[in-house]
Amino acid sequence: DSVVNSLDVFTEEEQMLRESVQRFATEVVGPRVREMDEKESMDPSIIKGLFEQGLMGIETSSAHGGAECSFTSAIIAVEELAKIDPSVSVACDVHNTLVNTIFRTYGSDFQKDKYLPQLSESKLGCFCLSEPASGSDAFALQTRARKEGDHWIISGSKMWITNSYEAEIFLVFANVDPSKGYKGITCFIVEKEMGVEIAKKEQKLGIRASSTCTVNFDDVKVPAENLIGGEGLGYKIAINILNEGRIGIAAQMLGLAQGAFDKAVPYTFQRKQFGQAIGTFQGMQFQIAKAAVDIEAARLLTYNAARRKEEGKSFTQEAAMAKYFASQVAMSVAGSAIEWAGGVGFTRETGIEKYWRDSKIGAIYEGTSNIQLQTIAKQIQKQYS
Ligand code: CAA
Ligand code: FAD
Repeated sequence: DSVVNSLDVFTEEEQMLRESVQRFATEVVGPRVREMDEKESMDPSIIKGLFEQGLMGIETSSAHGGAECSFTSAIIAVEELAKIDPSVSVACDVHNTLVNTIFRTYGSDFQKDKYLPQLSESKLGCFCLSEPASGSDAFALQTRARKEGDHWIISGSKMWITNSYEAEIFLVFANVDPSKGYKGITCFIVEKEMGVEIAKKEQKLGIRASSTCTVNFDDVKVPAENLIGGEGLGYKIAINILNEGRIGIAAQMLGLAQGAFDKAVPYTFQRKQFGQAIGTFQGMQFQIAKAAVDIEAARLLTYNAARRKEEGKSFTQEAAMAKYFASQVAMSVAGSAIEWAGGVGFTRETGIEKYWRDSKIGAIYEGTSNIQLQTIAKQIQKQYS
């Protein structure tokens, strides 16, 4: 069990889910982590396993094949998976907190009935917003959609799309009327076989088992009924969903920090130098204690944001704070964990260095750390000016 785990605000159902994800992560994911990192690809059996465990429709209603659990449950699953492998964690996170949530929140009955069961049972989803020329400035996207009869024709190129290599369902943001600026952005459901082309697969510093590809849409014909949430509402859908999604990334970074801590700290009590366990030197004890404080603070920020969202309270600022802080903590704790294990921590064998490589992405995706700070700053200005 984790040394630091004092937050006790979970329902029985949430605790049971945590235990079952812990088992899956340790027994099924754990043995494959190093190989998947080295091969830079996700073992298909892991994605299959996530579906079989009921982790790909966590909040989806049972009528649509889901587990009908709380938002906090989704956050718990992402955290627990990240303790073992942040790549598997982000696959689950994007599928649940971005893709399923768009269907559940903005889908028509037809769209929910058609796609949610597939997304709960076997088909992986991805969220296509970023482009080569628009990352932080996401609403400047260049992908276009034009109406032709009872279809939309989508053309453009998306970049950095998580899960896209394995995905079958793509949520794509395209502008249907650039004269309206970002108020022309519209969200479409695109199935792989409608003509999606998976182009370059990135080779990355971390989360290497998670696929990240450029996805091209070359006049892809999409039925009119696959427009989701209304014409021109895509920008609102994207940012409203990202506000929630950022709590998921905070949970991923929290789990990562705890995973690195759990791996390195026991070693400090086994390893002896100068005739005593290195973990009993005050210089080490204080570093470890400070890391424990940071992890606990990240945990409180993350679950506070999740509960606020669940209770229908404002949570944009809290989500940005949680993601910003947990990303910083993940980087610092994973970096310290390597140092605590000395040379052993620097080798591939222990898996500690992987947490550090994986931690860097937290400050980049779903809005960089600067974008989180800008989001918080805007809320402060609203409050105080
Ligand atoms: N919540 C709700 N609404 C927001 C908002 C927020 N956090 N930020 C902006 N908006 C709304 C504004 O209210 C405004 O809408 P109205 O005109 O209807 O009032 C509109 O968005 C534009 O506002 P701004 O001019 O202030 O915003 P901007 O154009 O300068 O930037 C942004 C807006 C693109 C959302 C930017 O703040 C941002 O978050 N950029 C990062 C994009 C991002 O997170 N991408 C993630 C891609 S997915 C991903 O990364 C997944 C993964 O890796 C796993
Ligand atoms: P830029 O926007 O060019 O930013 C570069 C630097 O400039 C950053 O430090 C940034 O903070 C800073 N900067 C930019 N604007 C400002 C400003 N106004 N004020 C201060 N500083 C600023 N996107 C998707 O749509 N779907 C996905 O599934 C997805 N998965 C991803 C997975 C990975 C592994 C990666 C690397 C990216 C993924 N992304 C995804 C894209 C991701 O959201 C973007 O990379 C991110 O939003 C940053 O955009 P950018 O890379 O273009 O950087």
